[in-house]
Amino acid sequence: MENFAPELTISSPGRINFVGEHTDYNMGYVLPTAIGNKITFKLARNSTQNICNVYSVGYEGFTFDLNEISISNTEWQNYILGVVNEILKLTDKLRGFDCTIESDLPLGSGLSSSAAMECGLAFGLNELFVLGLSKIMLVELSQRAEHSYVGTQCGIMDQFASVMSKEGKILLLDCQSLEYQRIPIHIHPYKILMLNTKVSHNLASSEYNTRKQECEEGVSILKKRNPQINSLRDVTREMLEVSKGAMNQTIYNRCSFIIDENKRVLEMAEAFRQNNLETVGRLLYEAHHGISKLYEVSCPESDFLVEFTKMNPFILGARQTGGGFGGCTLNIIHEDALEDFITSASKAYYEKFNIRLEAFEVEPSGGTSIR
Ligand code: GLA
Repeated sequence: MENFAPELTISSPGRINFVGEHTDYNMGYVLPTAIGNKITFKLARNSTQNICNVYSVGYEGFTFDLNEISISNTEWQNYILGVVNEILKLTDKLRGFDCTIESDLPLGSGLSSSAAMECGLAFGLNELFVLGLSKIMLVELSQRAEHSYVGTQCGIMDQFASVMSKEGKILLLDCQSLEYQRIPIHIHPYKILMLNTKVSHNLASSEYNTRKQECEEGVSILKKRNPQINSLRDVTREMLEVSKGAMNQTIYNRCSFIIDENKRVLEMAEAFRQNNLETVGRLLYEAHHGISKLYEVSCPESDFLVEFTKMNPFILGARQTGGGFGGCTLNIIHEDALEDFITSASKAYYEKFNIRLEAFEVEPSGGTSIR
């Protein structure tokens, strides 16, 4: 374990997304917020010019040289290496450092531990070496790190939510202009309950990139009749229907989902503003249906958990959150029903999949910060 005196401690949170899944790389809208679960970084400069030591609670640590950065075969190291690599492109002020990482964010659970890792390190190194990078630069370089070192062609939502969130508020983000609004939410006596399916299917990263390509294919077909469009963000339902015959059913379904999902984000943001939780709940169910049947990024475990809530009058809505193929479902549930529901859902889930469900409450929380 580490034997250095930390100069700086950084908290970097995971996130949930209420609605607007896979819309970010289609230049649309998302509605995320950071949560209390986080990754903690302890950092200090060391006496070297270029040697960096990374220790992790739960993973084997590693050492690397700032002058010889390359992609590692150990996946989690690439979050670190990718960020450092991106920072080195922007500044020559980085020097050797020591760092420990500790997480209470369940990995691979759709709560974006990856963005928390990238943004926490970027934020910490920016402070430690007084790099002068703005928050949005930290967000964007973290996203680029994921593209180049991890290999997921992700959008900007996770990194943005991890860095920019404020306690008690959700972010309505326009992923095209990066304009955003923070919307206070008041859901008492309801709670946000996360159910971790504990499955993270291996295809997540490759299927993610495939979805992105399918959307691009949709855009290129739609562009023939609508040369002014640049992304699915610019596509209306009417445009899609007119071009339906020119595309296969899969591409049509992907585009159809994104068009509806963007509408759902704006509608849900308004419903939160008006404290209309019934509408929020309905939209969650509609979104899950699209995620499962049109965008096809759900899995039997998530579908089961969402379906299971439909029998419960104390639950307003539920859906799988995050990139897909497992991870967590997000549920809006009356506080009086919380315990009974967790007990019955855990039992049913165990009987069906032989997996012990993990259930925890979350609240909209602040973004990456110095502790
Ligand atoms: C992952 C990506 C995000 C976003 C979501 C799906 O979390 O990192 O950019 O695309 O999937 O909404």
